Amino acid sequence: MKLAILPGDGIGPEIVAQAVKVLNLLKSEGAAIEMETAPIGGAGYDAAGDPLPEATLKLAREADAVLLGAVGGPRYDALDRPLRPERGLLRIRKELNLFANLRPALLYPELAGASSLKPEVVSGLDIMIVRELTGDVYFGQPRGIEVRNGERVGFNTMLYSESEVRRVARVAFGIAMKRGKKLCSVEKANVLECSELWKAVMIEVSRDYPEIELCHMYVDNAAMQMIKWPKQFDTIVTGNLFGDILSDAASMLSGSIGMLPSASLDEHNKGMYEPIHGSAPDIAGRNLANPLATILSLAMMYRYTFADIATADRIENAVKKVIAQGYRTVDIFTEGAQKVSCSEMGDAVVKAM
Ligand code: IPM
Ligand code: MG
Repeated sequence: MKLAILPGDGIGPEIVAQAVKVLNLLKSEGAAIEMETAPIGGAGYDAAGDPLPEATLKLAREADAVLLGAVGGPRYDALDRPLRPERGLLRIRKELNLFANLRPALLYPELAGASSLKPEVVSGLDIMIVRELTGDVYFGQPRGIEVRNGERVGFNTMLYSESEVRRVARVAFGIAMKRGKKLCSVEKANVLECSELWKAVMIEVSRDYPEIELCHMYVDNAAMQMIKWPKQFDTIVTGNLFGDILSDAASMLSGSIGMLPSASLDEHNKGMYEPIHGSAPDIAGRNLANPLATILSLAMMYRYTFADIATADRIENAVKKVIAQGYRTVDIFTEGAQKVSCSEMGDAVVKAM
């Protein structure tokens, strides 16, 4: 296994270091794992004047999988858009053709009290959001800010080709088959042509999956339903922008955004694995961050890229165990639990394994 390790900015290096501890444990047991680290985001800009340095992209291309921390920080906000950390992240997703972004939202029973919703609303929660990741208004052309009729206008293009919708649909239907066989496609077809096409293609693809119960929901309603009664959802498939928003909302159901991992996959299950949270500059460098989303992302790497279900389960069970043992970083801390730092949480997971 050749892994590209891209810690990025803010809390990125701290949380990635904890996942690397898990990898080192597996290595010490004999697993053939090669790791190479490279800068991305603000760190890429600092090192090479580019949020996605050439050498980093090359490493990521040659690796079997990529583990990423987070990118961004206030230091880089004034840079020109192409130089900003976020652009590095978007470019690596696009360059590696990682069009299917899997974002599971799962509630660990012991964390029900950490959610801002009532325990009965979130207990037993297990949702998978499949977000399209390389299209939509994130990448559509034309885009820009220009002067029209004497004033500035900003514009972006929401665009999906049917082949883009079809390939992410197939991934989502495939995942739904292995879960509750219920798929909810989220769009805004009452207003947007782009969504109208999205919905039509979903219906076409559904003919190949007669066992799946497909439903359609407008994104505004989906946002409401997600907070009202999230357990009605099993698998959700949606576009890049709506998926970005809904997955942040879903993360709060599970107690903390610090718990949610993600996998971004190409056609051949090569993937990049990252927590869905950002670089949290406010707590960076203070050993406070929750590394569990990153460690759970590593579990997803074993599950999806390496099809090593035993190791994936082992890592996930270790996370369940440390939660059950009462270890809590500040973001998931509730009275009576044992508050631990980022590195202590990493050590606890390694010990539990
Ligand atoms: C995410 C993030 C990114 C996105 C940002 C950092 C560009 O919010 O992965 O959800 O919008 O996709
Ligand atoms: Mg986001």
